[in-house]
Amino acid sequence: MSRGNRAAILITLGSILFTVAFLYSYYLQPEETGPEQPVPFSHNVHSGIKEIQCQFCHPYVAYSNFPGIPPVEKCLYCHNYIIVQFPWIQKEHDYFNTRTPTPWVKVNYVPEHVFFNHQRHINSKIACEQCHGEVKNLQRLPQKTWQMGMCIECHREKKASVDCWMTCHN
Ligand code: HEC
Ligand code: HEC
Ligand code: HEC
Ligand code: HEC
Repeated sequence: MSRGNRAAILITLGSILFTVAFLYSYYLQPEETGPEQPVPFSHNVHSGIKEIQCQFCHPYVAYSNFPGIPPVEKCLYCHNYIIVQFPWIQKEHDYFNTRTPTPWVKVNYVPEHVFFNHQRHINSKIACEQCHGEVKNLQRLPQKTWQMGMCIECHREKKASVDCWMTCHN
């Protein structure tokens, strides 16, 4: 084998390895881009595998300006019986016993002067996924800062109001 051939083979092998490594890191790594949470709560386990409805844990989403995150009591409703000895569940019991709200890290942000309310959106049958993505496939939710363009784009498409200074800014 000539020296030139050997170099060509090495370069080919090298670039195949590089491509595989790139594709692996791009597609196969689980999506864990969001901030670390105090308890590694998985939407994938609860909504995807166990098929618990979104609104079981987020019941006020259609009625309140502050849909909120479920309180620890709601976790214990199940976890008083399910995997009770699991260390993260013990941590939830500690929060409960010391009356400390679980310090969940918020991931969705709208700019300060923007007011967002779920009600009109949910009443007009827009699925959670359309705005929040496939939450049920995620272990950890990614951070998302809503820009006005993201609101406007859908409003145009659905022929909703785009008179944003009147409707979105309070
Ligand atoms: C039209 C887009 C849209 C739809 C549809 C939507 N959301 Fe949201 N959601 C948002 C935006 C924007 C925020 C951030 C609002 C804020 O910080 O005030 C948010 C925030 C949240 C929060 C965090 C609230 C908090 O108190 O921090 C939860 C929980 C949530 N959404 C759940 C849901 C669920 C469950 C559904 C389906 C029943 C849903 N959303 C449908 C856009 C949407
Ligand atoms: C409606 C019942 C129900 C509720 C409510 C519930 N869980 Fe779970 N949870 C489950 C089930 C079922 C499993 C799977 C148990 C198993 O693997 O055997 C689970 C698994 C877990 C796990 C194990 C981790 C993993 O990824 O496998 C953690 C941690 C957890 N839940 C935390 C929570 C927290 C925090 C809350 C409250 C925000 C909560 N759960 C609310 C039913 C529930
Ligand atoms: C078993 C309870 C449970 C179920 C079921 C559940 N969630 Fe959640 N959700 C939580 C908890 C706990 C958090 C806070 C921790 C986190 O961000 O992962 C959260 C956070 C969120 C947030 C981010 C809020 C923020 O910080 O801006 C969104 C959006 C959301 N959930 C949407 C959904 C949607 C959509 C579904 C249904 C596909 C769903 N959730 C089902 C418990 C639940
Ligand atoms: C996926 C599509 C979609 C996205 C994304 C979306 N909206 Fe909407 N929005 C709608 C639709 C459709 C309506 C009309 C509902 C109705 O007619 O009752 C609406 C209605 C509204 C209204 C009430 C309008 C009025 O005339 O009273 C406000 C305010 C609003 N949206 C604000 C926002 C803000 C702020 C954001 C971004 C953070 C946003 N929306 C993102 C689809 C969307």
